Amino acid sequence: MAEKLWGGRFSKKIDPVAEEFTKSIHYDYKIAEYDLIGSMIHVQVLKNVGYLTPVESGKLSKAIRSIYDQVIKGDFKPDYKAEDIHTNIQNILYKKVGNLALKLHTARSRNDQVVFATKAYCKVAIAGLKGDVAKFIKSINELAAKNIEIIIPGFTHLQHAQPVYLKDYLGAYIEMLCRDLERLEYIFQNMKVTIGSGALAGTPINAVEYNIKALDYLKGLKIGSMLNIQPTPNSLDTVSDRDFIIEIISCLSIIAMHLSRLSEDLIIWSSKEFDFIEIDDSFCTGSSLMPQKKNPDVLELVRGYSSRVYGNLVSILTLMKGLPLTYNRDMQLDKEPLFNSFEIVSGELKVLQGLIRTLKLNETKIKEHLADESLYATDLVYYLVDKKVAFKEAHTIVGRLVKYSLDNDIEIKVMPESLLREFSPKFVKAEAVKLFNPLISVKSKKSVKRSK
Ligand code: ARG
Repeated sequence: MAEKLWGGRFSKKIDPVAEEFTKSIHYDYKIAEYDLIGSMIHVQVLKNVGYLTPVESGKLSKAIRSIYDQVIKGDFKPDYKAEDIHTNIQNILYKKVGNLALKLHTARSRNDQVVFATKAYCKVAIAGLKGDVAKFIKSINELAAKNIEIIIPGFTHLQHAQPVYLKDYLGAYIEMLCRDLERLEYIFQNMKVTIGSGALAGTPINAVEYNIKALDYLKGLKIGSMLNIQPTPNSLDTVSDRDFIIEIISCLSIIAMHLSRLSEDLIIWSSKEFDFIEIDDSFCTGSSLMPQKKNPDVLELVRGYSSRVYGNLVSILTLMKGLPLTYNRDMQLDKEPLFNSFEIVSGELKVLQGLIRTLKLNETKIKEHLADESLYATDLVYYLVDKKVAFKEAHTIVGRLVKYSLDNDIEIKVMPESLLREFSPKFVKAEAVKLFNPLISVKSKKSVKRSK
């Protein structure tokens, strides 16, 4: 038995350097489980149409199942001498059942196997990632619930803007992550796992035969009913389509971007200048030179890793853009960016969960920041608007007042009423000073329909 899935028409062995160069086993072993599931289904199809006798299909199924069980137990050791995982599995089968293994490749191509196994991997990986996102959302919700009354300065342009509830600030990230979950669900549902493409042109087996009751057959397997297998509606498209990978990595890029923004906020908040939060020691590292340092490396790496995921997206888009139909070997390079993106984002969600759960708020410092009068300037404008001053005029009045306060180093709330009235006769000091209050400020914003 040749160690390759091809070879008959060749008069020479592959050059060892070319062999090494064309291999994918060192990463595509990760889809072993799904390649084996594809083979289990294929054996059923071959039996149903008479390419395999019931005895042959029984033997093959048993052998495939034994390799599958090994993979599930974590006992499978890839053979790095094989070209790829499909070849590796075929060779093991040959050792187990001899020439019968050669029949498994009837009406089948790696081109179809690869896309089947990669889609199955994606289905499972998406389901897992949705779990990671959901757990992360829970950790943010818990942080918000623990600090339900806390108000912080809100920023635009990283400048003090208006006070906001911390729960709303965190809620903004929950909104983003909920959208991420919806995107993942959409991709999951939209991704059709099909069989019967052959190399590109289809196979001699009638499409109805591929309507195999895969669900029954897969019962009891970890992958369960996730696959929803169908005959391919267009075999040329199936073997050359990698849209699903592009969609997934773009969705993962958006998640990575959200996590990066959150990390950036937390990095800023943990700085001495802000000091809103204390990141637990267990999620920080120190400096080999400066003994006082406690650095937010975890958050910095989350921020940094987003660049890798974007790189993976660009890599797969570039990989695909010039490829003629149908399968081209370039497409073998789709898997590393895919696996890597899932691994990065899943890792980020896991580490951030712990960091968020142990995060402490520094209420004293936050209160000091909230004393900044500029945060309430807009509330002063609304105050004048309520007294029938046109908004634009009120805006100019308060702008002048703020400038006067800064130029003369005098807080608005300590200015005498006579001085306030020079800016607008509508000012009543006793009313105005009450506005420099974070709670009054946040409670006066009623346009947001909060879920609770
Ligand atoms: N390892 C290859 C891949 O992942 C298998 C496909 C090879 N197909 C072929 N026609 N040479 O793409």
